[in-house]
Amino acid sequence: MKKIIKNGTIVTAADTYIGDVVLEDGMITAIGLNLEAEGAEIIDAAGCYVFPGGIDPHTHLDMPFGGTITADDFETGTIAAAFGGTTTVIDFCLTAKGKPLQEAVDTWHRKSENKAVIDYSFHLMVSELNDTVLGELPQIIESEGITSLKVFMAYKNVLQVDDGTLFKTLQTAKKEGALVMVHAENGDVIDHLVEQALAAGNTDPIHHALTRPPELEGEATGRAAYLTELADSQLYVVHVTCAEAVWKIAEARKKGLRIYGETCPQYLVLDQTALEKPNFEGAKYVWSPPLREQWNQEVLWDALWSGSLQTIGSDQCSFNFKGQKDLGLGDFSKIPNGGPTIEDRFSILYSEGVLKGRISLNKFVDIISTSSAKLFGLFPQKGTIAVGSDADLVIFDPNVERTLSAETHHMNVDYNAFEGLKVKGEPVSVFSRGEFVIRDKTFVGKPGAGKYLHRKRFEASAPRPLRDKVSEGVV
Ligand code: URP
Ligand code: ZN
Ligand code: ZN
Ligand code: ZN
Repeated sequence: MKKIIKNGTIVTAADTYIGDVVLEDGMITAIGLNLEAEGAEIIDAAGCYVFPGGIDPHTHLDMPFGGTITADDFETGTIAAAFGGTTTVIDFCLTAKGKPLQEAVDTWHRKSENKAVIDYSFHLMVSELNDTVLGELPQIIESEGITSLKVFMAYKNVLQVDDGTLFKTLQTAKKEGALVMVHAENGDVIDHLVEQALAAGNTDPIHHALTRPPELEGEATGRAAYLTELADSQLYVVHVTCAEAVWKIAEARKKGLRIYGETCPQYLVLDQTALEKPNFEGAKYVWSPPLREQWNQEVLWDALWSGSLQTIGSDQCSFNFKGQKDLGLGDFSKIPNGGPTIEDRFSILYSEGVLKGRISLNKFVDIISTSSAKLFGLFPQKGTIAVGSDADLVIFDPNVERTLSAETHHMNVDYNAFEGLKVKGEPVSVFSRGEFVIRDKTFVGKPGAGKYLHRKRFEASAPRPLRDKVSEGVV
């Protein structure tokens, strides 16, 4: 049904102004002052912000990992995302060596169809790059609209690939117009440090962090950046946690390389001391890369503000404390890595970022939505408020004060990683292609209403002016 959102403060990555937005046939059909829309349902947004729906470029829903399966699937995960102001998720489709890529993608379609309540897309993991895979990839990119390829430089003997495979992926991505994503940690050295720690009887969760030091994230990030330069390709570093990695990305960008970075809410507000919580509670805070010393948080905020990092992904990868995280009792290396973050990503970035003066309101929209839409081939269908864009919108009340908690969250997991964190601001109503998914803080959406998104190829013309001019002898 046609709707008009009246008198909200409309915020995009570029502008902030008061106006009305008309939603019709899934799209935004008009924006203006004192608009009339005959027969439309009127939604009053006075005193609230109207944001483009959040885009979460990094989720793991219904994913087998660490000997178990993530607690949130495409239904519970996308419902929680919607409550949190997110209207698009891009999930990682895992592949297995020796199996057709299409089989993996079909598995992910089965997991998500009839379940997702908001729109979604997939990144494709590269587990090997032999002639068979090289033959399959162009077809998958074209037919599925999967224009981002994920490579793990860590998780030895599980997901990790060697540098040759990363390099070939970068070359293939350049040819096909895809963006390569890396989990940048030196998995070989980590494996060695983990063995040493366990042999010394160091089995508690804190040793997860101590065996994955920031040098190994910085090293892998720098290595991936050099390989990208050599392949003249494009790279997106997922879940950046520390100064060492930020510096490598900033250095590469200064050279004019197409290198982008994402951080996650957990790295902005939590630190390594959480892993020291007694009674094995530290296991709740086991992510890879790990939480870092607190001073890194300001480095990450500065990087978001200055543009060295462009996006925030949740890295939603939830495991229950009871029955899943406890697989690692007595051996930290068996704790499933990951946590529940999909619901609180948006509000944490707003409350800790905008309200604490670390980023502007427009930068908030850029980081939470627009940048991801641009990097992952969804813009301007998604990621902004403009005539012709999908009517994915969030009415956000900036005055609500609340405390994040497992008691009130909607994720299918028995703890909240941000338990007790006070935030200001809350999504009140959320629209996916013009339909309410959340209405006055109540879920009114429908499993299966979310559509699979075929994405455009990476914009190969992404700016690299100085470098190009130097090589052409202009500068
Ligand atoms: O600990 C994490 N990050 N779990 C999810 C898998 C990954 O590495 O992104
Ligand atoms: Zn398809
Ligand atoms: Zn990762
Ligand atoms: Zn992840």
